[in-house]
Amino acid sequence: MDITNYVPKGKIQNKHLLTLKDYSRDEIYEILLLAEKVKKEYKSGIKNTALSGKTLAMIFTKSSTRTRLSFETGMRQLGGYPMFLNGSDLQLGRNEPISDTAKVISRMGIDGIMIRTYKQSDVEELSVFGSVPVINGLTDLYHPCQVLADLLTAYENFGRLKGLTLAYLGDGNNMAHSYMIACAKLGMDVRIVCPKEYSPLPEITEYAKSQGKVTVTEDIESGVLGADIICTDVFFSMGQEKDEKKERLLMPYQVNSELMKKTKNPAAIFMHCLPAHRGEEVSADVIDGAQSRVFDEAENRLHAQKAVLLLLLSDKK
Ligand code: CP
Ligand code: NVA
Repeated sequence: MDITNYVPKGKIQNKHLLTLKDYSRDEIYEILLLAEKVKKEYKSGIKNTALSGKTLAMIFTKSSTRTRLSFETGMRQLGGYPMFLNGSDLQLGRNEPISDTAKVISRMGIDGIMIRTYKQSDVEELSVFGSVPVINGLTDLYHPCQVLADLLTAYENFGRLKGLTLAYLGDGNNMAHSYMIACAKLGMDVRIVCPKEYSPLPEITEYAKSQGKVTVTEDIESGVLGADIICTDVFFSMGQEKDEKKERLLMPYQVNSELMKKTKNPAAIFMHCLPAHRGEEVSADVIDGAQSRVFDEAENRLHAQKAVLLLLLSDKK
């Protein structure tokens, strides 16, 4: 079933958003359709204050522009209160255990936690030791919130998701992992095109392959042929040192106009979660050109995050 014939129920089973591994196809559709609805309502000036009186603790141990902006603004627009917590200002930065932090936050009448950090296990520990919903705002392994915004962007562009081909070029990182998982579940054809040294983690690839159509290849020509969506991400993610060998091996995978032509699909679009490095993973003419949808993706972070917040933080009936 594609998103076009899915009838939303307005709720999901999951208490947390730790990784899209935990989400079914239908739960992903629920988020995307609610995001589409709240976007339309917001643009027509309809106020939704369903999270009035709710507080979201937002812990950041890595930098952020879009994630902070979208959660903070989204929470405010829904009538709630976003509490920004810089990891290095918290006792967490002086080695207080994440389990104690989770228990303390849960005792304060806080309604949810959004965390951006290094270790996926820290996000999972928060969900085990706390009593409130936990949302993964990026770890070294996954970036589920970004992929939800990207799927919304793809749906807006093509009017469907099932059967679309998404080719991701470059480092087999957190974005590659989350794309593989979500796109496979939605019946898309997902291809990770990268040098074998920088392939996505084998256990995540294996999981994604068990969910749908996933290819990991070094071959650019076959990897991008027929793609509807070409996407990439930085060569060096937060927390990684610059490394000449990696840069040399990844440069042939740069998304530039030659590569876009290799899709042989003039309707193909370009996506990048941002921040981008023009001249490295993407050329300036592509990211600033007509096929680029990068600022739609950035805007859709707001709407997708609002949908996630509404589904996880609203009082359950
Ligand atoms: N794409 C994204 O997550 O951006 P930030 O790192 O600015 O939050
Ligand atoms: N892969 C990048 C994504 C940034 C939004 C990183 O982890 O730094």
